[in-house]
Amino acid sequence: MRRREFIRAGTLSGIVAGTGALGVSADPLSALVAAPGRRTSNDSVRLNSNENPLGISPAAKDAVIEAITVANRYPSDQQAALVTKLAAAHEVSENQIVVGTGSAEVLQMVVQAYAAPRAKLVMADPTYEAVTNYQRTEAYELIKVPLTTNYEHDLDRMREAAESSGHPALVYLCNPNNPTATITPSAAIDEWIADAPEHVFFLSDEAYIEYVEDQRMWSSLPWIHKKRNIVVVKTFSKIYGMAGLRLGYGIAHPDTAARLTDFASRNNANQIAIAAAGASFRDDELITKSREVNRQSREMTEATLDELGLERMPTQANFLMHRISGDLATYRNRMADAGFLVGRDFPPKLDWNRLSFGLPEDMGRFCDTLRDFRKKGWI
Ligand SMILES: Cc1ncc(COP(=O)(O)O)c(C=O)c1O
Repeated sequence: MRRREFIRAGTLSGIVAGTGALGVSADPLSALVAAPGRRTSNDSVRLNSNENPLGISPAAKDAVIEAITVANRYPSDQQAALVTKLAAAHEVSENQIVVGTGSAEVLQMVVQAYAAPRAKLVMADPTYEAVTNYQRTEAYELIKVPLTTNYEHDLDRMREAAESSGHPALVYLCNPNNPTATITPSAAIDEWIADAPEHVFFLSDEAYIEYVEDQRMWSSLPWIHKKRNIVVVKTFSKIYGMAGLRLGYGIAHPDTAARLTDFASRNNANQIAIAAAGASFRDDELITKSREVNRQSREMTEATLDELGLERMPTQANFLMHRISGDLATYRNRMADAGFLVGRDFPPKLDWNRLSFGLPEDMGRFCDTLRDFRKKGWI
């Protein structure tokens, strides 16, 4: 009996069947691994965390089951194998890859590694807040530069802020940007990186790059071959649908990667996540399907927002921002009552909601709910 069949036949089903509260009995393992990760326990549709509504791929599910059998072992061999795979695909050496429990951990490593007296942290406003959270315990002077009127990073002002004093600066570039889902053209970013002095360090967060269709954006990865002052951060949470498994990585010059690794916790990635990542990475079928489903949901949502005259930002990711009239918290509560979890506060954009795209059928119901809200005068 293969290990997977053994588990299916015995051990895990026994464990699960013993937990009557889960309410699964016929095929408990399938129920656990086959249910798409789209709903919360109270059955709301989650349109609030930029997750992939498809769930993990079939190959990743099989790999997860297989990996449970080695859960008693430390994951260093498997992590090394994953790093080899990632390095080969990105055409870098293994010592240029830094693995994290989610890309969030890599962001944290960078913030910690480059903290210094009088250092600045320069970022867009609004942008992904994790970096801001991690800097609170560090010695940075935080400088937030508002996005331009077309929701790009204001690179001129960011550059001025980062370079003017001659002190170290960490520049966070989130492209596409969260929460706006808008891109900043890469040509302008490249121009800055090419000329930037050594004391300016770039943290390039490409969490959503696989969704980008706009030809004006590309990866900053080639810079790691020429520069020590950049790390490019990627995640398995979005296009690969693995947000709950927690795996991301950074790619950098070997010296930079070594510096970051000093701030990683030991054995940070777990067996299950490593196995799922290995099975999902560059899985064309999964990527194509994730993009296609996202495109369908996006088009339907955009058409409905246009029909209702609700202003929206252009999106290059698996979410968008749209304006609402009235109070955001009230809107969110009403949506929750209707079965949809949406957005959170992203100051200063407090009359805009960030909406993640779910499955097309869920977005169809969401769009009907929006129309209903309009009839009630709520939006
Ligand atoms: C821009 C960006 N970077 C990083 C992350 C963190 O992702 P994870 O830690 O799941 O890889 C997120 C999560 O939403 C994000 O939006």
